[in-house]
Amino acid sequence: MQKKKLEVYHEHEEHHIDRSIAIIGSGNMGSALLKGIIHAKLAPPKKITACDINEAKLKILANEWKIKTTTDIQAAVQASDIVLLCVKPQTLSKALQAIKSVIRSDQLVISIVAGMRIAYIQQMLGERIAIVRTMPNIAATVDEGAAALAFGEHVSPAQQKIAISIFEAVGDVVTVSEEQLDAVTGLSGSGPAYIYMVIEALIDGGVKMGLSREISTKLSVQTVLGSATLVKKSGLHPAILRDQVTTPGGTTINAIHELESHGLRSMLIDAVAIATKRSEELSKIMNKVS
Ligand SMILES: NC(=O)c1ccc[n+]([C@@H]2O[C@H](COP(=O)([O-])OP(=O)(O)OC[C@H]3O[C@@H](n4cnc5c(N)ncnc54)[C@H](OP(=O)(O)O)[C@@H]3O)[C@@H](O)[C@H]2O)c1
Repeated sequence: MQKKKLEVYHEHEEHHIDRSIAIIGSGNMGSALLKGIIHAKLAPPKKITACDINEAKLKILANEWKIKTTTDIQAAVQASDIVLLCVKPQTLSKALQAIKSVIRSDQLVISIVAGMRIAYIQQMLGERIAIVRTMPNIAATVDEGAAALAFGEHVSPAQQKIAISIFEAVGDVVTVSEEQLDAVTGLSGSGPAYIYMVIEALIDGGVKMGLSREISTKLSVQTVLGSATLVKKSGLHPAILRDQVTTPGGTTINAIHELESHGLRSMLIDAVAIATKRSEELSKIMNKVS
């Protein structure tokens, strides 16, 4: 895993995007993006405002990162070039209502709110607003996220670059059309949960065969991490890597046969498909402008 060390920031340092940024909703994802933005030196801490309804949370962030904080959502938006919407889907409408009167067409709005469409945000904020919709995942909290970005029609190429750089600060980024974000949700948005189940089951397998839980956990986690790293670094298709570790008549082929007879691959394909379908359904319900 990529390790990033804490660094000291100086007034004269160059910052890659050097724009003022408001992070609306400073929970798991908002805080992860904040950390990434500061570590990647995209903007100096004094140009970042974290906004949340929870003052205790803001106090911790202000102490840790020396950023500005406020519970006043309008003030946060007015002071910023880029507005990152990181609230829960059920609170988005309230947040948009609050910023509607202060948002300007020169600002860039980036939403990580699951299921909420660009058209919905545009309808709430105004037709000419530049809006980027993203689907990140929880691994952004450890700088190993997988995020997909879809751009609204008013997002300029320069703004696209800015949005990409923010999510690259906490992992890998792809760009997709907005229609594909449901599939992204079913794959990499919900995906960490699938992999946690795989890790959990591997741990239990080791325990069943007599390994201590501690040893089995360490080996299982590292096996998943190492295998994924090898796929990424080698650029090889996973089937080739699998063949390379499958000796004729050996242990691995026996385990693969067992996994195939229980339909492991079909199960995972079905899981992505059903999660995608559910994302589409939820999106339809959620995007009604009241
Ligand atoms: N977590 C994931 O894996 C993941 C993956 C992809 C996308 N997302 C999306 O990311 C968004 C945030 O998720 P999260 O896990 O970071 O949620 P979270 O930890 O609950 O963070 C949301 C934060 O927003 C605050 N908040 C609520 N209303 C607000 C308002 N009107 N103005 C300012 N702040 C407000 C909440 O305060 P309180 O806690 O006091 O209510 C909370 O601190 C969600 O829309 C989710 O769909 C999450």
